[in-house]
Amino acid sequence: MPYIKLISRRICQYSILKTKEALPKLLTINGKEYPTSNKDTNVTQSILNLTNRNLHLNPNHPIGILRTIIETKLNSLSPYKTFNNFSPIVTKWQNFDSLGFPPTHPGRSKSDTYYINDTTLLRTHTSAHEIECFQDINDDSGHNWRGFLISADVYRRDEIDKTHYPVLYQMEGSHLWTRPRETSNMEAEIKSLQSTLNEMLINNKMTLTRCQDEVEPPTETRQDYMTEQETKLCEMHLKTTLEIVVLELCRLKNMKDVKMRWTNTTFPWTQPSWEIEIWWDNQWLEICGCGIIKQDLLLKSDFEKDSTIGWAFGLGLDRIAMLLFGIPDIRLLWSNDKRFIGQFVEGQINTFKPYSKYPGTLRDVAFWLPDILQDNEEIHENDVMEIVRDVAGDLVESVKLTDEFIHPKTHKRSLCYRINYQSMDRNITNSEINSLQEKVRNELVKKYHVELR
Ligand code: DAH
Repeated sequence: MPYIKLISRRICQYSILKTKEALPKLLTINGKEYPTSNKDTNVTQSILNLTNRNLHLNPNHPIGILRTIIETKLNSLSPYKTFNNFSPIVTKWQNFDSLGFPPTHPGRSKSDTYYINDTTLLRTHTSAHEIECFQDINDDSGHNWRGFLISADVYRRDEIDKTHYPVLYQMEGSHLWTRPRETSNMEAEIKSLQSTLNEMLINNKMTLTRCQDEVEPPTETRQDYMTEQETKLCEMHLKTTLEIVVLELCRLKNMKDVKMRWTNTTFPWTQPSWEIEIWWDNQWLEICGCGIIKQDLLLKSDFEKDSTIGWAFGLGLDRIAMLLFGIPDIRLLWSNDKRFIGQFVEGQINTFKPYSKYPGTLRDVAFWLPDILQDNEEIHENDVMEIVRDVAGDLVESVKLTDEFIHPKTHKRSLCYRINYQSMDRNITNSEINSLQEKVRNELVKKYHVELR
C-alpha cells in the first residue's frame, strides 16, 4: 500500500470548538509512559490494545508462517540481520523526516496517522527503522551482514471493510555493498541468484512471465553518485532477489504459471523506485515497493560518503497472507477462535476452511454536518470510521457512505453511513447491536456536533 494512495476524504470543515474528552495526562503503552496533548493525541485505547499482539512472532499464525517463509528464503541467499521486536512507537522524525517525506505529505495528517502526541506516533511503515538498522549493521561489522530484515506491526487510520484493518504487518529488507570490496563481486552474485531462480523454475516445473508491455516509462533517473553499471547491477540484484521470494510463495501454493510485472514509481528515500505486481484472480495486485536507496539516507546512517550502495524493499504481509491462505476477512487474522488459529501449522500454506458465517445486521446513521465556516476544524471520513471502531471493534464488518446530499434551502450537507455489524466468531443479538449503534450516534454528536436525522 504505497503512501501516496493513502489520502483520506475530508468531509467537513467547521468552526465549533470540538468537545475533547478528558485525556489522561500520560498514556502507558507496553510499560512505558508518554505525555499526551489535547491538540495532537488521536490514538484510542482500542488501538493501543492491539500493540502487543505480535502475530508475526506466532509460528503457527498465517502472518508468522509467511514471515518465516520469506525470512528463511532470503537468508538462504545472503546473511541478513533480522529485527522483529521494534516497539511500534516512533518519532515523527523516524517515520517521516529522516526518509525525506515533504512537510505537506498527506501521510503525516492526523486523519491518516495515529499520534501519541506532537512528536510521537504509531509507525505507519517499517521504513521508520531503516536508519537504526543501517547504523546497527554498520557497527556490527565483525559479522559481515549484507543487509537487514525487519518485520513489525504498522498502524494506519483507514476505512473499515474486509481488507482494511488499523493494524497491518510489514516486512522491510535491505541489501548493501561496500565499495569497492563488495561491488567488485556484484556480477557474480547476480549470476548465482539467476541460477537459483532458474533451478526453482525447472525443479518445480514452473514458468515466470514478466509482463512489461503496458508499463509506463520511469520518471526517475539514476543517482549521480552511482555509475550506470552499478545502478543496473543493483536493480538486477534487487529484482532477482524479490522474484525468488515471489516464486517461493507461488511454489508453496502450487501455482505453476506465475505472471508478474515491475512498474515504475517514486518513494522519497529511493531512486529509482519500483513496485511488484502479481496477476491474481484476473487483476494486477501490487504487493511490494522497493528501490535503490538514496545516498542521503546512507549518510544519515553514518556511512562514509560514497562508500556504500544498496537497495531496500517493503511488503505488506496481511494481503499476501489473505491470498495464500484463502482468508476472506482481515478480522480473522486477529481472531483468537480455535476454529481459526487451529487450522495453521508452521511451514505450511493451508487453505482456510470457513466454519460458519454468522449473519450480519445493517444499521444506518444519517446526520447533518455542522456549518462550514472557517478553516480550523475538520472531520474526515476516517474520523467517522474511528468512532465506529472504538465503539464496536471487530463486531463491524464494513462501514460505507451510502448517501450524500445538500439541502436546497438550508445548504446543510447530509451524510448517511451504513454499518454492517457482523461477528466472525459468534451470533450478536439485536439488543447488543442497538446499544452499539446508540453509542456510535452519541459519539458523533459529542465529538463532531453533527445533527442526527
Ligand atoms: N514503506 C513503504 C510503504 O509502506 C514501502 C517501501 C517502499 C519500503 C520502498 C521500502 C522501499 O524500503 O524502498 O508503502
